[in-house]
Amino acid sequence: MPKILVTGATGQIGSELTLALREKYGGDNVVALGHKKEPTKELKDSGPFEKGDATDKNFLESLIDQYQIDTIYHLVGILSAAGEENPDNAWLVNVNSLKHVLDLAKEKGLKQVFWPSSIAAFGLGSPRDNTPQATIMDPNTIYGITKISGELLCNYYYNKYRLDVRSLRYPGLISYVTPPGGGTTDYAIDIFYQALEHKTYTSFLREDTMLPMMYMPDAIKGTIDLMETPNSKIRTRLSYNFTALSFTPKEIADEIKKHIPDFVCQFVPDRRQNIADTWPRTIDDTPARRDWGWQHEYDLAKMTEDMLKHLRAKLKIK
Ligand SMILES: NC(=O)c1ccc[n+]([C@@H]2O[C@H](COP(=O)([O-])OP(=O)(O)OC[C@H]3O[C@@H](n4cnc5c(N)ncnc54)[C@H](O)[C@@H]3O)[C@@H](O)[C@H]2O)c1
Repeated sequence: MPKILVTGATGQIGSELTLALREKYGGDNVVALGHKKEPTKELKDSGPFEKGDATDKNFLESLIDQYQIDTIYHLVGILSAAGEENPDNAWLVNVNSLKHVLDLAKEKGLKQVFWPSSIAAFGLGSPRDNTPQATIMDPNTIYGITKISGELLCNYYYNKYRLDVRSLRYPGLISYVTPPGGGTTDYAIDIFYQALEHKTYTSFLREDTMLPMMYMPDAIKGTIDLMETPNSKIRTRLSYNFTALSFTPKEIADEIKKHIPDFVCQFVPDRRQNIADTWPRTIDDTPARRDWGWQHEYDLAKMTEDMLKHLRAKLKIK
């Protein structure tokens, strides 16, 4: 059994990935690292939970030693919209903490590291439709710059030290368990809450802004599948393009209307529109599907139905 450390474990992805890893490998074998936010009862009760700053290399080292960690899922991050508010902190958290994780993995001979990149690693010079795995990458947000820097670092540690580091360029992830952490695709989650609670929503992106997206159960499955793939099948140590669907705010609003007919959506773009305008609309993830068999399950209709079902129960709305 691997002995796993999940950083960023109380975040949108970490809160679900930690539980999925514990289910698979046993609660005691998966250590969750949180920061400021309190963990849910489920996260705290299902295995070891620690709190601390992932930019502190000594602290990370003490955790690895204490729990005999051999695998790290490094999910700590400052997201796109939040990054523009404090670029220095985005660099410190996103790049420095990754460098610490890679150095510790190298120094201590860890077996595997997972680190997420993002569609934000692409930029205005990248083709926006069916964006290929290998193409121009010229992001102009600090978040995107930290992601392309991180990809290059991961690739370097693989080539120079043969560290088994794997990565996915996540699209916007949609989930009902933990609120999103300040990204440009957060609207696609808020819209469900507002539709159920108030039957009205104002999207901060224009109605025709198409972006690549994925439902969280697909993202969790894809992440674990990638990490379980034999090493010889992994053909890129930068980061794999990884997608399920693309839609616009108008398309998701129309899908929700099929379930809540009196739902009204308005579109009033704010500063996040400028970020979205530099990102791909659709992604070509053929290499992930070919190399390690990536397949998604949820399309827009199936995801919308499942989100509404779970949120109705969570918010106690009939
Ligand atoms: N959610 C998405 O749609 C999406 C899309 C693309 C990439 N990603 C990437 O996936 C990773 C996880 O994203 P998420 O959506 O779960 O983000 P999130 O904001 O919900 O969680 C990130 C976590 O990092 C923690 N953190 C921040 N600074 C820290 C520090 N100094 N020390 C320790 N912990 C710290 C925060 O407490 C937070 O819980 C990030 O690298 C993000 O860039 C997410």
